[in-house]
Amino acid sequence: MNVVSVKIRIGAFFAFAVACSFLSGCVSENYSGVNSSEYVKYSSFEPGKVLLDNNGRHVNAHGAGFIFDGGRYYMFGEHKLKGTLGNKAIVGIHCYSSADLYNWRDEGIALKVSHDPDSPIVVGTILERPKVVYNKKTGKYVMFVHLEKRVGATAKSTKLEDIFKEKPNYKTAQIAIAVSDKITGPYKFLETKRINAGKLPANDADELLKAKKILDEKYPDWKQTYLFTVRNNREKIKGQAFWQDFETGQMSRDFTVFVEDDKAYLITTSEQNSTIHIHELTDDFTDFTGKFVRVLHYGWHEAPAIFKKGGKYYMFTSYCTGWSPNPGRLSVSDSLMGEWKEVGNPCRGEGQKANRTYPAAKADTTFRSQSTYVIPVNGKKDAFIYVGDRWHPDDAIDGRYVFLPIEWENGLPVIKWYDSWDLSIFDK
Ligand code: DGJ
Repeated sequence: MNVVSVKIRIGAFFAFAVACSFLSGCVSENYSGVNSSEYVKYSSFEPGKVLLDNNGRHVNAHGAGFIFDGGRYYMFGEHKLKGTLGNKAIVGIHCYSSADLYNWRDEGIALKVSHDPDSPIVVGTILERPKVVYNKKTGKYVMFVHLEKRVGATAKSTKLEDIFKEKPNYKTAQIAIAVSDKITGPYKFLETKRINAGKLPANDADELLKAKKILDEKYPDWKQTYLFTVRNNREKIKGQAFWQDFETGQMSRDFTVFVEDDKAYLITTSEQNSTIHIHELTDDFTDFTGKFVRVLHYGWHEAPAIFKKGGKYYMFTSYCTGWSPNPGRLSVSDSLMGEWKEVGNPCRGEGQKANRTYPAAKADTTFRSQSTYVIPVNGKKDAFIYVGDRWHPDDAIDGRYVFLPIEWENGLPVIKWYDSWDLSIFDK
């Protein structure tokens, strides 16, 4: 075989692989899912197993957020494709609904990516961890998504081969906002941005101003050089990442949204993921009031998921290890914008045993998952479900969902593994 024919064969194979990958991720009658095409009626949760929807396709809503509305639960997540291309948004944000949390009905794509090269949500953009909330005042549903722009020479190309080759760099760190009159969409993209430019937080303005003085005096190039990357120096240069983004707005990567008493808050990993920011949203939930606090300073958290029980707020997070799972983390506070204290790993027990295809999933990897949401169970007092992603970055569409009940030990929430469980666990 000569070089030209080898190149043609490789090219043809690549085009075929990309086409298959694209088609397998589309919501169409041709889509075959990653597993069975049989319809399955579930009456329990089976964490980590393929979760089939009403059409027999693996539920495709990763990094999901949930909302209970009009007697049904709605799940919004990243629609992924096969292979590594699937880590970029080629289709959009997928919505499912369920009456019982076990069986999910496909409601279609709630926010579609754009094929306009100038759109901020052009195909190939990274759109992660969507969360939807309802605003009673405006009657609108508001969707938030972590957005990372495409970069490089091909950033405006809509060809899948170009998108496939682009390296994500996660430097945009913006929150995108979209609205809809109907819960299932279509959502109208409003804007994407960094947050609260030029604003100091409500809680540690004094410390930050002192830090800025130290930076100006001791590190004259602090604006250009990110000193945080020198791990040993972290303590000395606290505040640098905050000040680097002060004028243009604070970063927002992994996040969640929490609604309480008609007010909504964005809880987001900021300052290069070193510190969590909690931002108050405007009354219509589509902008920020300027009031925010910095919490869990320099704790390097990702994947925040919040819930409230009694007078206390609980937040699950992870460490920052990309797509690889790590030990879960629990933080507690008496008030949402108050002082948060990290109290340890909430996972307990032996976890999931290894089987022919998978290694064991123990408490030290959050049972091979990363938090994405905590669902309050409707009609059951103080019943909450931990939802995490078992990511599969090499074959993104095959990411699995880990739903586990939140139990309590010594006044704190704990998560234990169950191969199978149902909501009656909350009646005990
Ligand atoms: C971890 C985050 O939690 C995910 O949402 C995703 O952004 C990956 N990092 C990318 O490596």
